[in-house]
Amino acid sequence: RGPAGEAGPGPPTGPPEGAPSSATSCALPPALGPEQEEQESSETHMSVLWYAGQLAITYYDTEDCSVYFMPDIPDNEDLKLLQKVIGELNPQCIVTSAKQDQNIAKFLTNLTATAGDKDIGKPEIVLFPNIDFGLEVSKQRILSRQFPFIPSHMTATEKILYLSSIIPFESPLMIRALGGLLKFLDRRRVGVELEDSSIAVPILAFKKFVMSDTVNMDQDTYCVLQIFKSDIHPSVYKLSSGLKEGFSLFGILNRCRCKWGEKLLRLWLTRPTRNLTELNKRLDVINFFLLAQNYETVLTLQNCLKNIKNVPLILKRMTLSNTKVSDWQALYKTAYNAVCLRDTCRSLPSTIELFQTISRVFTDDLHYIANLISKVVDFEGSLSENRFTVRPNVDATIDEKKRKLMGLSDFLTEVARKELETLDNHIPSCCVIYIPLIGFLLSIPRLPNMVDKTDFEIEGLDFMFLSEDKLHYRSARTKELDSLLGDLHCEIRDQETLIMHQLQTRILEKSEVLNSVIEYTAHLDVLLALAAMARENAYCRPRFTHRHGFHIKDGRHPLMELCAKTFVANPVDSGEATRRIKIITGPNSSGKSVYLKQVGLIVFMALIGSYVPAAEAEIGVIDGIYTRIHSRESVSVGLSTFMIDLNQVAKAINNATERSLVLIDEFGKGTNTLDGLSLLAAVLRYWIRQGTQCPQVFVSTNFHSLMQLELLPDTPLVEYLTMETHQDGEELIFFYQIKQGMSTISHAANIAALAGMPAKIIERGVEVSELIRNGKPIKRLDHPSKCDKMEKCKSVVEKFLSIDLDDPQVDLEEFMSKEVLPSAASVL
Ligand SMILES: *[C@@H]1O[C@H](CO)[C@@H](O)[C@H](O)[C@H]1NC(C)=O
Ligand SMILES: *[C@@H]1O[C@H](CO)[C@@H](O)[C@H](O)[C@H]1NC(C)=O
Ligand SMILES: *[C@@H]1O[C@H](CO)[C@@H](O)[C@H](O)[C@H]1NC(C)=O
Ligand SMILES: *[C@@H]1O[C@H](CO)[C@@H](O)[C@H](O)[C@H]1NC(C)=O
Repeated sequence: RGPAGEAGPGPPTGPPEGAPSSATSCALPPALGPEQEEQESSETHMSVLWYAGQLAITYYDTEDCSVYFMPDIPDNEDLKLLQKVIGELNPQCIVTSAKQDQNIAKFLTNLTATAGDKDIGKPEIVLFPNIDFGLEVSKQRILSRQFPFIPSHMTATEKILYLSSIIPFESPLMIRALGGLLKFLDRRRVGVELEDSSIAVPILAFKKFVMSDTVNMDQDTYCVLQIFKSDIHPSVYKLSSGLKEGFSLFGILNRCRCKWGEKLLRLWLTRPTRNLTELNKRLDVINFFLLAQNYETVLTLQNCLKNIKNVPLILKRMTLSNTKVSDWQALYKTAYNAVCLRDTCRSLPSTIELFQTISRVFTDDLHYIANLISKVVDFEGSLSENRFTVRPNVDATIDEKKRKLMGLSDFLTEVARKELETLDNHIPSCCVIYIPLIGFLLSIPRLPNMVDKTDFEIEGLDFMFLSEDKLHYRSARTKELDSLLGDLHCEIRDQETLIMHQLQTRILEKSEVLNSVIEYTAHLDVLLALAAMARENAYCRPRFTHRHGFHIKDGRHPLMELCAKTFVANPVDSGEATRRIKIITGPNSSGKSVYLKQVGLIVFMALIGSYVPAAEAEIGVIDGIYTRIHSRESVSVGLSTFMIDLNQVAKAINNATERSLVLIDEFGKGTNTLDGLSLLAAVLRYWIRQGTQCPQVFVSTNFHSLMQLELLPDTPLVEYLTMETHQDGEELIFFYQIKQGMSTISHAANIAALAGMPAKIIERGVEVSELIRNGKPIKRLDHPSKCDKMEKCKSVVEKFLSIDLDDPQVDLEEFMSKEVLPSAASVL
């Protein structure tokens, strides 16, 4: 608090509240709330090189100020891997060498040409001269750069050793790409556009990323399986687009407590993996959290996690020397709670790798950081003055100066009293305050009769300004005070700022531990979220197998089961050499699509390391999920729907291996029956011919003639399934239960009845379709059949024979005209 003295009648009201700072902050635009600031947009800038079949990618993420790199890895001419990474990151810019293989040049031009609409991020392609990607140039650029996490006391050699422990210098292409990236960042001044040119783009960490062992899935699959709801790009880096995540798998799994957990969950969802070591590690942790005896531990961990703040943002502000008062407290809390997390993990079984890792990498540097902050920063003082202030006993000269200022308060009261004596009697009170950069001022409440500026003039005082109904003046005495004490405040400020800079540097040098904190608390956070979901919805742990196929007992659809009052669980059984192709029939809305999606989702969830909605699940590891499932929007599009059908199915045919899962819902919907049917049969026959190389295929269809016309060979590879229904009078009851067999009832009849078709006509329709199905002749209604004629002839003959011609009572003529002739006429 600034010193101030007050004099006047009545009890002293204490120093004017926040007078110094309020006077200065008037001139500033209103500060941004913390909420707005967290919304900092994130961008990625990528540098890529492709040479002799090797690909190297590095990128910079402005959100955590980290450089990510993928060490040299083979990629074919079609650059599928690059495509995947670009699709996932959606980078703002892609930098590459101007002198490169035609192949990648073409690929990149094509990328911007085909990106289409503006709103789907179209990367800017930036070409730098090849020299900027030179190997030696790049190495030098990396080694000569100042990184805040490298302690200043390190010698040049130590620094090289340190850097080569985190950057793979043995990957030449990667190093060259990194060199180009650094050049680009510095030239564009990414993230520091508005800062002084002496401030370099902050790089807080180097992180490796791998794309091997991922499972292929395209945008469409993410969309139809409702993994991410928003139609926008499922990029991990689009977190702050402001779009609310709707009802989606991500939405229901996201119980994360910190921002970085949420981001990691998104990453896991975009990178389902086949790496069983990794998946089992995740499942082991979830398993541990689910055990009843560990419930307390879960609560403790969750409590600590809540206090892990957005450290990368704080570190970024530190490197730019923009650290805010609240940042110190946030960082202190984070370090303190990270220590608590570590201590908890140390008490947990070290057989679980995550706990062991946290015990190890959450080093005592955290103690150091927490201690340093708590020893140096005066949180209360900082908050009330809205600037960094230092605790007592940190710096003797600051303490000395502060003591002087403290004593000042009484002294100023005395001065104010003296001033009041010389003022007009109408003025009830006054005080003397100090405003940095302006100095000491006499502050007088504005009286009701003081309206115009001219009314503010007071004999012997210089009017300065009006603020919050207080008039401020300079007097002879305040000028005297200025020359006597005015510099004291500025000096204290300057010295405290200096200490803040030192503190920033010391913390940044230890920032590596903070990067680990973010990385592993994100892991904990996601796994705790997945465990919570598994506990509440009775999920089970999937078991992985290298055999092909899936054995899922009582599988459920993770989203549908949350909406439906009762959800009918269904099994999935597909084998190594049998039942690889499932053909599912059944009327519309009997649950075919839900079943397909459920299979897809259960398998997908297993591949991100989550428990799955089933009673038991054995999952044969797969390398891709290919789908053609109609989304609601595309129902009526007709032929263009069919085009998309073909496109998606072609993708499946071209890329699916015996380790892939293919889900096709109502193939051929938009075209005429014959074409659709023939194509479906052709596609299925193609896969059947592949024998055990055939993918796991789930097809739903309304083309019953596929079976009736026996278009598919009889093979154990194919299994026919149908959704159980029951016909109750006119009503069709759905059981949503899958069973072996084919749908036989023609549900057209029900629909016809609902549409108001007369019962007679429906009956006849059903009759005819039954006859066709059973290969029997159809009897016409308008012509009596031969059998009828026969019956009638028989009856005429019988009547004739029954007449006793000897009976005189018989009127033969009448009998002929009334009985025999009409019958005969109807027969002939
Ligand atoms: C993209 O590349 C493919 C071949 O790689 C080419 O057929 C196609 O025309 C290109 N598209 C554009 C828009 O340049
Ligand atoms: C699989 O994951 C583990 C870590 O979970 C990692 O050590 C290993 O290198 C990964 N394997 C491959 C082939 O990427
Ligand atoms: C049932 O599905 C078929 C085939 O897609 C479609 O043509 C028909 O309109 C659907 N019927 C109803 C009642 O939705
Ligand atoms: C699969 O094949 C199609 C060709 O039909 C191709 O366009 C696509 O990029 C391939 N890759 C994946 C991962 O779908």
